[in-house]
Amino acid sequence: MDLDFTGKVALITGAGNGIGRATTLAFARSGAKVVVVDRDTAGGEATAGIVRQQGGQAHFVAADVTKSAEVRAYVKAALDTYGAIDCFFNNAGIEGKWAHTAEHDEDAFDQVIAVNVKGSFSGCATCCRSCCSRSEVRSSTLPRSQGLLRPQGCRLTSPRSMR
Ligand SMILES: NC(=O)c1ccc[n+]([C@@H]2O[C@H](COP(=O)([O-])OP(=O)(O)OC[C@H]3O[C@@H](n4cnc5c(N)ncnc54)[C@H](O)[C@@H]3O)[C@@H](O)[C@H]2O)c1
Repeated sequence: MDLDFTGKVALITGAGNGIGRATTLAFARSGAKVVVVDRDTAGGEATAGIVRQQGGQAHFVAADVTKSAEVRAYVKAALDTYGAIDCFFNNAGIEGKWAHTAEHDEDAFDQVIAVNVKGSFSGCATCCRSCCSRSEVRSSTLPRSQGLLRPQGCRLTSPRSMR
C-alpha cells in the first residue's frame, strides 16, 4: 500500500519495539514527522534514532500510558514540537500472563486492563480533547478489546478511510 504522509504528524505509542517501531518507520518513510512514545527509553530512543538516520524527523517522549499526567505530557509534547497530530497509532499494549481462568493472577489482570484499556482510552480521549479544534485525527487502536471512540464534534476517522 502506497500512502503519502508528507507534512503530516504521526504519534505512535509503544513505538520502542515490535509493531510500533515498524509502523513508526513506515510513517517516517512515507514523509510523516513522528512522535515516538514508549515507557522503554532505550527502545524509544533507538526508534527515533533510526528515523533520523534515515533522514526523517522524530521526537521521543518517555511515557507510561497508564498514567494520565504522562499521557497529557506526550500529547502536549507532540503539539509543542510539531504543532499538530494528524495520525494517532494507539499501539502500546501488553499480552499479560497466559493462565487458566481459575489460576489467573489478579495483579496481572489489572495491569493488562490498565495498559490495554485505560491507556488506550486515555490516549484517545486526550488527543480528541487537544486536537478536535485543530484538525482531523486519524486514530487506530491496537490493543485487544478496544473500540474506536468518537466524541461528538470530533472528526476521528479510522485508517481504512485514509486512502
Ligand atoms: N504481536 C501480535 O501478534 C499481536 C496480536 C494482536 C495484538 N497485538 C497488539 O499490538 C500491540 C503491539 O504488539 P507488539 O507485538 O509489537 O508488542 P511489543 O511488546 O513488541 O511492543 C509493545 C511496546 O509497548 C510498550 N509499552 C508496553 N506497556 C506500556 C506502557 N504502559 N506505556 C508505554 N509503553 C508501553 C513496550 O515498552 C513496547 O515497546 C500491543 O498492543 C499488542 O497487544 C499484538
